[in-house]
Amino acid sequence: MIVLGIESSCDETGIALFDSEKGLLAHTLHSQIEIHAQYGGVVPELASRDHIRYLIPLLEQTLQQAAIKKTAIDGIAYTAGPGLIGALMSGASLARSLAWALGIPAVEVHHMEGHLLAPMLEDRVPEFPFVALLVSGGHTLLAYVKGLGQYELLGQSLDDAAGEAFDKTAKLLGLGYPGGPALAAMAQQGKHGVYKFPRPMVDRPGLDFSFSGLKTFALNTMQAAAHEDGAQGRLTPQVKADISLAFEEAVADTLKIKCSRALEQQQCKTLVIAGGVGANKRLRMVLAEMIEQQGGELFYPRIEFCTDNGAMIAQAGCFRLMAGETQPLEIDARARWPMQDLKAI
Ligand code: KG4
Ligand code: ZN
Repeated sequence: MIVLGIESSCDETGIALFDSEKGLLAHTLHSQIEIHAQYGGVVPELASRDHIRYLIPLLEQTLQQAAIKKTAIDGIAYTAGPGLIGALMSGASLARSLAWALGIPAVEVHHMEGHLLAPMLEDRVPEFPFVALLVSGGHTLLAYVKGLGQYELLGQSLDDAAGEAFDKTAKLLGLGYPGGPALAAMAQQGKHGVYKFPRPMVDRPGLDFSFSGLKTFALNTMQAAAHEDGAQGRLTPQVKADISLAFEEAVADTLKIKCSRALEQQQCKTLVIAGGVGANKRLRMVLAEMIEQQGGELFYPRIEFCTDNGAMIAQAGCFRLMAGETQPLEIDARARWPMQDLKAI
């Protein structure tokens, strides 16, 4: 079965063709970074308009790359939520109308399920059950994954998601948008141990997260550093790098402590990381060390499939279409959509 995947939940337009037998056939991506950078964050209306501009050219390009015609597509998968409603609607409208025109089924995909299953796009695939750490711009959560569509929520962020904390702290430091990769790059020049950030909520039982305090801690640290003797109210690039490193270490360490606790609680040795922050090299390194000490296994998608893409949507949709799932013509895009509401496949 050949499935067309369409991702348009936020600031990236992603299109992919996935074959149930051969795997990924082709994929294309258009990032809206340049559009939103001047505003310091995603402007929803501009995002929707840009998706409309790029969806069809990318579709044509992906078909060309895979060297197939539209009529070879057996089903269409599209992100129906969670995300920006206008952005979701643009992809959903293309998916639904194309499916109707071609007389093929279309299926809704939960964006976070796409992320969670993204490691399965790689050659080395995790076996169920496993613990998954999903760390993106909008969500941070730990889930116990018993099978496709069977997600038990173990813990989640009570305020800012990890990616959001990266983005907001980067903005405070004047590092621009998107903040995660910019802050990670700055942290590479940082010196260890100059600043020490707290590890929020690790001394309390449970698997929930809270990252908004780290952003405030970063602000207070910046203000104190700017008022030190000789600083003249300014932060040198070295101070910014030292703060970036301390922040990044605090996030990675906190996530590691919670992952380790989740694995122990579930008596499980397999950990999967996915979502945009999963592209962070320090986080991957810290989790790899922890997993090695425990004799477990760690899985993550290649960097380009950590952040938003059409391949993960095509794959997740393929699993659902193969199980016979489809929805009627009516478009039901959702800004919010709890993952636990998903049906087992
Ligand atoms: O999964 P994603 O592409 O979009 C959502 O579904 O939200 O995640 C985007 C988030 C942003 O907050 C971005 O700053 C963060 O992932 N991110 C990173 C890195 N690359 C992307 N955070 C830290 N280090 C990175 N290398
Ligand atoms: Zn995402």
